[in-house]
Amino acid sequence: MTPDQQRETAVEAALGKLDLAAKVALLAGADMWSLPANQEIGLGRLVMSDGPAGVRGEHWTADDPSVSVPSPTALAAAWSRELAHRTGQLLAQEARRKGAHVVLAPTVNLHRSPRGGRHFEAYSEDPLLSGEIGAAFVSGVQSGGVATTPKHWVANDSETERYTVDVRVDERTLRELYLAPFEAIVRKATPWGLMASYNQVNGVSMSANQELNNGVLREEWGFDGILVSDWTGARDTVRDALAGLDIAMPGPVTVYGEHLVKAVREGLVPEETVDELARRVLRLAARVGLLADAPAAVPAEELPAAIDGEALAREVAAAGMTLVSNDGVLPLSDSLGSVALIGAAAVEARIGGGGSAQVFPTRVIAPLEGLRTALPQETAIGFAVGADPNVDLRPLAARTEARFLGRDGSELGRVALPDGTARWIGQLPAGISFADLAEVELTGVLAARSEGLHRVGIRGVGRFVLEADGAVLFDDVVVPVGTDPAAAFLNPPEQVFELELDGARTVALKLRHVLPENSGFAGFGLVSFVLGHGEPTGTADELLDEAVAVAAAADVAVVVVGTTEEVESEGVDRASLALPGRQDELVARVAAVNPRTVVVVNAGAPVLMPWRDDVAAVLLAWFPGQEAGAALADVLTGAVEPGGRLPTTWPATEADVPVWEVETTDGRLEYREGLFVGYRAWQRRDGAAPAYWFGHGLGYTDWSYEGLELRLLTPETGGADPYAPVAEAVVRVRNTGARAGREVVQVYLCPDRADAATPGSALAGFAAVTAAPGELAEARIGLPLRAFQRWGAEGWTGREGDHQVRAGRSAADLPLSVALEVPLPR
Ligand code: BGC
Repeated sequence: MTPDQQRETAVEAALGKLDLAAKVALLAGADMWSLPANQEIGLGRLVMSDGPAGVRGEHWTADDPSVSVPSPTALAAAWSRELAHRTGQLLAQEARRKGAHVVLAPTVNLHRSPRGGRHFEAYSEDPLLSGEIGAAFVSGVQSGGVATTPKHWVANDSETERYTVDVRVDERTLRELYLAPFEAIVRKATPWGLMASYNQVNGVSMSANQELNNGVLREEWGFDGILVSDWTGARDTVRDALAGLDIAMPGPVTVYGEHLVKAVREGLVPEETVDELARRVLRLAARVGLLADAPAAVPAEELPAAIDGEALAREVAAAGMTLVSNDGVLPLSDSLGSVALIGAAAVEARIGGGGSAQVFPTRVIAPLEGLRTALPQETAIGFAVGADPNVDLRPLAARTEARFLGRDGSELGRVALPDGTARWIGQLPAGISFADLAEVELTGVLAARSEGLHRVGIRGVGRFVLEADGAVLFDDVVVPVGTDPAAAFLNPPEQVFELELDGARTVALKLRHVLPENSGFAGFGLVSFVLGHGEPTGTADELLDEAVAVAAAADVAVVVVGTTEEVESEGVDRASLALPGRQDELVARVAAVNPRTVVVVNAGAPVLMPWRDDVAAVLLAWFPGQEAGAALADVLTGAVEPGGRLPTTWPATEADVPVWEVETTDGRLEYREGLFVGYRAWQRRDGAAPAYWFGHGLGYTDWSYEGLELRLLTPETGGADPYAPVAEAVVRVRNTGARAGREVVQVYLCPDRADAATPGSALAGFAAVTAAPGELAEARIGLPLRAFQRWGAEGWTGREGDHQVRAGRSAADLPLSVALEVPLPR
C-alpha cells in the first residue's frame, strides 16, 4: 500500500468507529485555535495558527515570540519561487516548534484596490504572480509536514463590511482573476486546506457556496483538503454543511455541534454529508501525523534541514526591497563622512501590518541599528524624528504585571508581561478560565526619561479605571466603534491623558479593566487592551526644523517614511493613500537642503510620493519583518542588490487610481471594472500614467534585452493540465553594467487587438537570471496553457486572434516581441 492508501484506510477505519455526535465533534473548534482530540480513534489535538508573516501560535502576546518574516507584498516583490518555498519551510519549522499543525496562510486575494486594508498581506494585483508565489509557499510549508489554508476563498479583496459584503463579479472575471491564484495553488501544490471568506459572492455567502465549494473547488479542481471557515464565519448549520464547509472555527460555540446533530436527525443534512466532512478532517489529521496507524505525509526523516530564521528573514527582506528610482546615490559610497537618518520608523521599524498576521519577534533591528552596524565607525550618523506619523501611543515600554480577578474580587492568578499590552484571545494564562474572570488589573511603572508633558493612554473597549500614583485619571466605559467584532481588538479606540512631570521620576500606573459582558466574538473569551505611554516631544514644527538641520549638515540624508498600524490593518480599508502625518512635508524639506536624499518607504501597500522626482533615490522596503534594519543596511551599502520588482502598480495620485471604490451600495460591492485591475487597467487610461508600473524595479547594474525566441512545446499530457507549459520563451539579456546582478525577466501575452472586454496584456511567465558584468544570460520561461486561454460560455477555450509575446522588465517596458497566432497548433 502507498502511504496515501494507508492514510485513507486509517481514515475510513477511524470514521467507522464514530457515531454521529463524535463525527460532528470533529468539525468545530474546541477553542480558539484547535480541533478536539479523540483518544478512542487515536486522534490528536489539531492546532491551527496564523499566518503569512510568521507563525504566532496559540498566544497573541510578546511572551511567546516567533520569527517575523517580511510581509507577503515583500515576498512577492522578490519574484522568487525559491525564496517563497524556503520561507514556507521556515514557517513549517516555526509551526512545529510551536505545536501547530496548520498555518492559516497564504493570503492570495488580489490587490484590486490599493485601499484594501490587507493589501500588505496579499501578494499582487496579478493572478499569475500570486498563484506562482502562493504555490511555492504552500509547497514549502507542506514539505515541512504542516498544512496550509490559502485564504480567503474568494473575492475578499477589501475589508469594508467584510462579514456581509456581497461581491458582484461576472463569471469570466471571477475565473480569470480572483479564482485563478487559488486554482493554480490547488492544482500545482495540493494544499491540505483552504479558508472560506466572510463575504458573499453573487448573493451567496462563501461558507454556504455550494457551486464554488463543491462544484468548482472539489469536483472541477479535485481539491481533497479541508475547507475551514474564517473566524466566526460559519453562520448557517444546514447551508454551510451542505456546501462542504468542513470546519467551523473558532469554538466551542459554533453553528455545528449540537445544531448539526439535530439537523441530521431532522433530515435536513444527510449523514453521508457529515461523513464527507469528517473524512476530510481525519485526512488532514492523518497528513500532519495526528491519526494513529496513518503515516504522516512527510516522515520525520524527510523534513527539511533546520533553517536559520534570522538569516532567511534578512535575505527575503533585502530580496524584496524595490528600488524604484536612483540617480546613482545608491549604493552609498563607503567613503561617506556623515549620514543623516530621519524618521520615526528609523528607530521603530514597522515590521508588519496590523491584525491577524501580527507576530511578536524576539528582536527587531531598526534602520538606525542596522546602519550603525554596517557603516564604518568613522561615518557619523545623525538622527532626527522629523515627523511622527503614529496616532496611537506605543505600549508602555516597561515590564508590567497583570492580576486576574474573579466575580467576587478574589485573585485568580497573576503574570508578568513584557510591556503595556494585555492580550489573551481564547485562552488565559494557565489555571485561569474565562468563565471565572471578571476583571484584569495591569500595574507598571512609568520611568520618565525627561521632564515635560508625558501622555498616558488606554486602548480597548469595556470599562477602565486608570490611576497614576493613586490619582484617578479615567473611570468610564469605552464602547466599540463600528460593527466589525474583530475591530474591537484590532483597532480599538484610544483615550489619552496628559501628565506634566518635572524631571526624571517614576509614576506608578494602575489600569483596571472590567470585561464587557460580551466580547463581541460569540463563544470565546477575549481580553485585549493596551496601557500606552508617550515621552514629551517637541512641537511638530520643531521636529521638522530639527530634521532639516541634521539633513543639511550630512553628506547623505536617508529619510524613512511609512504608514502605521492604524492605517494598514485588517478590518479597515484605507481612506487615503497619503503618508500619514507631515511626512510628505518632511521629505520635501529635507530634499530641499540635501540633494543626496534617499527615501525609504516602510509600507505594505502603495502610498503617494508627491516628492518622488525631487529626491535622489526611492527604495520601497515594504514591511520587512524583524531583520528590517539589517536588510536595509545590506541594500543601502550595496552588500546586497535590491532584488524587488513591483508586484503591484503604484499610482501617482488618488484621482488616477483605476479601482478606488471599496464601499458597498445596498450591501453590494460591484466589481464593475471586470478584468481591468492593476496594470491591465492602467494600460487603457489615456493620459494617466502610474508613478511606477507593475514589474518595475532597479538593481545596481544595467541590462540590455537582446533576443526573444518562442518554442512551441507539445504537452505530454495532451493538454489536460492547464499549468503545463505549451510554449517556452527564451529571452537573452546582457549585464551591461559594472557589477554582477539578478534580472527578473517578464513575459506578457498581448492581443494585437485588445477590445472592451480584453486587457492589452497579461503576465504569462517570469524567471530570474544572474550574470557577471558583460555576460549574456538566457532565461527560459515556460508559458502555461492557461495563459493562452480565456473563460467563456463553453468554459476555458483558446484565445482567438493574433497576439504578441513580449519580454522585458515591467508591464510598460517590453522591448522584445514575437508574433504568435493562437490557439496554438497542437
Ligand atoms: C482573519 C483570518 C485569520 C483569522 C484567525 C480572521 O479575522 O480574517 O485571516 O486567519 O481571523 O486569526
